[in-house]
Amino acid sequence: MDSIIVNGGSALNGQIPIAGAKNACLTLMPATLLSEEPLTLTNAPRLSDIKTMTALLASLGAEVQSLQDGQVIAMSSHGEINPVADYEIVRKMRASNLVLGPLLARMGHAVVSLPGGCAIGARPMDLHIDALTALGAEIELKDGYLHANAPKGLKGAVYEFPLVSVGATENALMAATLAKGTTVLKNAAREPEIGDLAKCLRSMGAQIDDDGKGTLTIEGVDRLHGATHPVVTDRIELGTYMLAPAIAGGEVELLGGRRDLLDAFCVKLEEAGIDVTETDKGLKVSRMNGRIRAVDVVTEPFPGFPTDLQAQMMALLCTAEGKSVLEERIFENRFMHAPELTRMGADIEVHGGTATVTGVERLKGAPVMATDLRASVSLILAGLAAEGETVVSRVYHLDRGYEHVVGKLRGVGASIERIKG
Ligand code: UD1
Repeated sequence: MDSIIVNGGSALNGQIPIAGAKNACLTLMPATLLSEEPLTLTNAPRLSDIKTMTALLASLGAEVQSLQDGQVIAMSSHGEINPVADYEIVRKMRASNLVLGPLLARMGHAVVSLPGGCAIGARPMDLHIDALTALGAEIELKDGYLHANAPKGLKGAVYEFPLVSVGATENALMAATLAKGTTVLKNAAREPEIGDLAKCLRSMGAQIDDDGKGTLTIEGVDRLHGATHPVVTDRIELGTYMLAPAIAGGEVELLGGRRDLLDAFCVKLEEAGIDVTETDKGLKVSRMNGRIRAVDVVTEPFPGFPTDLQAQMMALLCTAEGKSVLEERIFENRFMHAPELTRMGADIEVHGGTATVTGVERLKGAPVMATDLRASVSLILAGLAAEGETVVSRVYHLDRGYEHVVGKLRGVGASIERIKG
């Protein structure tokens, strides 16, 4: 298995281009199943999760072509569709469950394996099931597969999510576009990736009204047509690379970055003493002198602080002056990076969903192990600030969500390399 070696201590300067959003692309791709006409995505990220979704859609009978070095994904679901999403593919990635809503809407029938994915908590499917059941589907679990049926088609309904779920909102939204009548989804997730999905579905002919406060009203249509859609910027990749100069020092411009995608995160960086400015090309982040200040962080659904940046933020706070308290409210088991950061000299105490980080002057390089996607990159960020060499092993998680991480960080002056193993 490959590892990444980081030699810390260099300030970072220059520009980093930000890719299209993994999490947006993973819900935009299954939208191809809703139409017999072609759907083309531009600004797609080059990631192993995208390859997994490509394999899944191909196994369902969709044609998926990767063009322009993977930045364009041209899809067509004009042929016969197989409504069975097999465990062998689904287990590799939780987002595979996003084919459930589109398959059900198109075919009136779907058999989808329960997913695997990052080991960051139980991550059940009950909200997906409840929302699709409200639209008239009958769903039962047999042998590890969800068997969903709506032989007479889905019917519009009013459904209020008891808990905000990104994936369940996406499944219900996609399904509702082809349901008969009006669907109102209340307490829907408001993540920018949902806005991007709604935009794409509208350009395919869907009728969706978003009140911007968590209510989506969808007027079902008989059919959707083809479209070409640019994938929104990856706010998690953006936030991750904003933390690189914040941790290591220096000034880096994130090309394509937008503050509105990540305002709660920017506010916390500023509270810690990091400068964030908007430029013509994106966002510029700088940290010139002195230690940063401790800040408290609570992860919440959008527009709150994203759980997908909690591990990376913790890496920053390890060297802040004072005590920071990080409360994880989305996933119950998302502090697996804490013991690894401790190996690098961090002072972190975890009690249930709360981690208290007492800042130390310097981290020290050490061999560490990546446990999930965002944890992996937090260890690389910590390595940028640490004295000496950090070796991060099990980096395959990283390839799921970050394209060219070594090249992007080297481009701004980091000493980092990937070793084949
Ligand atoms: C998506 C993102 C993931 C991010 C997460 C939260 C994708 C591909 N992944 O994951 O990177 O960390 O949003 O922002 O977009 N839950 C239930 N029942 C359900 C579904 C979810 O209880 O049926 C719970 C989960 O266990 C979790 C919370 O709801 O505690 C939020 O999960 P959800 O928003 O659904 O996350 P994902 O869509 O899986």
